[in-house]
Amino acid sequence: MADSAPPSGAGHLSLIGMPGAGKTTLGRALAAHFNLPFVDLDAEIEARNGQSIARIFAQRGELDFRQSEAATLREVLTRPAPLVLATGGGTPCFHDGIKTLNQHSITLWLDVPVPLLLARLPTPEAAQRPLLAQAPAGLEARLYETLNARIQFYQQARLRCAAGACTVAGVLPLLAAAGFPAPAV
Ligand code: S3P
Repeated sequence: MADSAPPSGAGHLSLIGMPGAGKTTLGRALAAHFNLPFVDLDAEIEARNGQSIARIFAQRGELDFRQSEAATLREVLTRPAPLVLATGGGTPCFHDGIKTLNQHSITLWLDVPVPLLLARLPTPEAAQRPLLAQAPAGLEARLYETLNARIQFYQQARLRCAAGACTVAGVLPLLAAAGFPAPAV
């Protein structure tokens, strides 16, 4: 993992990783555990635009989506009170997302292998995710291709959990060692 300087933000925790890795589920559970607010970046983007992610992709295209994603990310990470953030799968990989995330939060990569992602992304769910919905060579090939392109960004996370350990109990020691949550002042 990146040997980065301590984050300069408000002590947020950001979960990153592929679609289907379980960022939202683990994020919600960690937020409840620490009694912190939970923020889902996709939901924030939808609220900001008044449109679903699928509609933003369909009507305005991916480039526009990535701009909105980056702007929303900066807005969320500069909120003054600590929070737990579940990002979208592509968030760290565009517009210096991983740099922004590492600057303003402790980043945790949910490192889940493709066979497990596949099992967790049944067809109707994948169809809701624009980048996975259009996969001419099939979902499995799309996931491998996407992970290959993105792993260089995910690997820059400060912390990593491997699939089976991406649970509250599994990540608590990692978080404690990284000083999360920061003691209230
Ligand atoms: C995306 C993942 C989605 C969402 C958008 C783009 C991606 O979030 O942000 O459809 O590029 O991988 P999830 O990771 O929650 O599916």
